[in-house]
Amino acid sequence: MRMVDIIAKKRDGKELTAEEIQFFIQGYTNGDIPDYQASSLAMAIFFQDMNDRERADLTMAMVNSGETIDLSAIDGIKVDKHSTGGVGDTTTLVLAPLVAALDIPVAKMSGRGLGHTGGTIDKLEAIEGFHVEISKEEFVKLVNEHKIAVIGQSGNLTPADKKLYALRDVTGTVNSIPLIASSIMSKKIAAGSDAIVLDVKTGAGAFMKTVEEAKELAKAMVSIGNSVGRKTMAVISDMSQPLGYAIGNALEVREAIDTLQGKGPADLEELCLALGSQMVYLAGKATSLEEAEEKLREVMRNGKALDKFKEFIRNQGGNEQVVDRPELLPQAAYQIQVPAEQDGVVAAITADEIGTAAMKLGAGRATKESDIDLAVGLMLNKKIGDTVRKGESLVTIHANREEVDEVIRMIREHIQIADHAVAPQLVYDVVTG
Ligand code: URA
Ligand code: CA
Repeated sequence: MRMVDIIAKKRDGKELTAEEIQFFIQGYTNGDIPDYQASSLAMAIFFQDMNDRERADLTMAMVNSGETIDLSAIDGIKVDKHSTGGVGDTTTLVLAPLVAALDIPVAKMSGRGLGHTGGTIDKLEAIEGFHVEISKEEFVKLVNEHKIAVIGQSGNLTPADKKLYALRDVTGTVNSIPLIASSIMSKKIAAGSDAIVLDVKTGAGAFMKTVEEAKELAKAMVSIGNSVGRKTMAVISDMSQPLGYAIGNALEVREAIDTLQGKGPADLEELCLALGSQMVYLAGKATSLEEAEEKLREVMRNGKALDKFKEFIRNQGGNEQVVDRPELLPQAAYQIQVPAEQDGVVAAITADEIGTAAMKLGAGRATKESDIDLAVGLMLNKKIGDTVRKGESLVTIHANREEVDEVIRMIREHIQIADHAVAPQLVYDVVTG
């Protein structure tokens, strides 16, 4: 087999066989196939697309390029959730205890990562004492006994994806449905869960700028998952403005605690219920999404979800008192208001730009080496569709330095006030496969 023939075949719009896809992924991972041939094939895929069978084969070739995680020692149906990336997305912190409160095993592997705020692990580490450096055996034991645990990502998962994603980033081939879908699904499949729930974002803060594109990506991922034996569902949700009010690590822990008690921001609660319902349904604990949602509301009402969060914190060495006394979380030295300069209605809060403003305060990492400050971040006081009077605060900046002029400038530039505006729909669609 020759790589040049595979490239030419895809260039001409023909279907690649499983063996050809396997040859490419294996050869590229071990260095036999050079970057220029891999980027040429990625561009051919970008223009000629792949059918469902090719997409599934590409995904499994990437899964098999490295280690995979075996969760078979954990009892029950393990359901994982993945979001295609948002700003102030606190859903994992809420969903993990919420779903575990219904006796569904949540075996979460998470990273720190780059971005506007830290990853799930950084956020949890805002809780004094909380740690994720536990052994695999401890992790399995905790999930079997308590239905919930979080461990840091380890092992060499999907090396083919790491290499190919970095190459796509510099060759204009990121924005391709078959390539994005296989990239995301390979990582989720290698992580070992039985079922997968996807939150596909659309809007300014997302890869997919329109609902139609997001739906196409969601359908592609759901099809891959189901065709390789992992039950998969998706929610298409809005990311034109940040989710909830909090953007920052400790601030988001606080928001998650509120949400677990049914006192959180309406949009965050709505999304957690939509995603959580799919998780409960796929775990076999409800026969419809409606029944699943009712069960989730019940554990929010009766306090079981909040108790599960306390139990989870205690098990991993954290101070569970933060749940009843959130003031024990790290707090920034300064709270600085950003007042509106005119009367009107909030028309836009551009998610990615506001996220970048939070990162500039230190809430997230710009590079792997950056330090992160768990106390700092932004609290939105208004969302799209809210009326505002001149002088009223749009955002409260939580900072550990007095000088925040650049952050204020970014916030002012990316929050627009107009005469009329309506709140965007949050959940656009669900894809059930
Ligand atoms: N996220 C991924 O993990 N892969 C892509 O290709 C795009 C977004
Ligand atoms: Ca939030």
